[in-house]
Amino acid sequence: MIVKAVLEGLELSINDALLDLCCGNGALTTYIFERCTGGLGVDFSEYLIDVARKHFLKRRNENFMLQDVVEFARTFPEPERFTKGLCYGSFMFLPTDSACELLRLLRSRFTSLLCLFIGNLPDKEKMTVFFSDRNYKPGIENDPGAPIGIWYTENEFIRLAAQSGWSARISRMPPSFFASHYRFDAVLIPSGQVP
Ligand SMILES: C[S@@+](CC[C@H](N)C(=O)[O-])C[C@H]1O[C@@H](n2cnc3c(N)ncnc32)[C@H](O)[C@@H]1O
Repeated sequence: MIVKAVLEGLELSINDALLDLCCGNGALTTYIFERCTGGLGVDFSEYLIDVARKHFLKRRNENFMLQDVVEFARTFPEPERFTKGLCYGSFMFLPTDSACELLRLLRSRFTSLLCLFIGNLPDKEKMTVFFSDRNYKPGIENDPGAPIGIWYTENEFIRLAAQSGWSARISRMPPSFFASHYRFDAVLIPSGQVP
């Protein structure tokens, strides 16, 4: 279901080159790589990048890199290589400043990126339901270090994207998806001024 949502959201074609930010162990990345020309996955976990390199490198034009994604976006020497971007189940672990900087850098430096899929964001409007049978610690929704990270409303996320030069469209997984009742996805396309 996740692969289908990403492929459709990105309108991925065989000629696209994918940038997967916070790719983790590459288990998702590999399904997306195989539907395009390949690309690069970036994550700051040495263990997960080792797993990705060991188990999920299939072609010469696929790669996994160990780095913080903001540092990567600031310094990667060939940013124009990528046509589609993905950040699945991870964006909410970035502190707000880093999240804004990442989106700004992707917009200003990665000039060939036509589309960015940011998946599995916790929906702040569904927090009450989520925490109805769990222990809620006030302020946990703004803590990137919490198990679920930062919760966004759809409008908060749309505003954050707009400030960084992206237009965001919100989508939802089918009800049978395990987290569809408290998460949403966003597809970003470049808009407005380059920040
Ligand atoms: C829940 S996992 C999701 C992994 C993968 N995208 C997936 O869907 O299977 C979150 C990942 O974000 C990575 N991560 C969080 N903050 C990061 C950062 N600032 N730079 C690079 N990776 C980061 C973690 O190491 C972890 O692999």
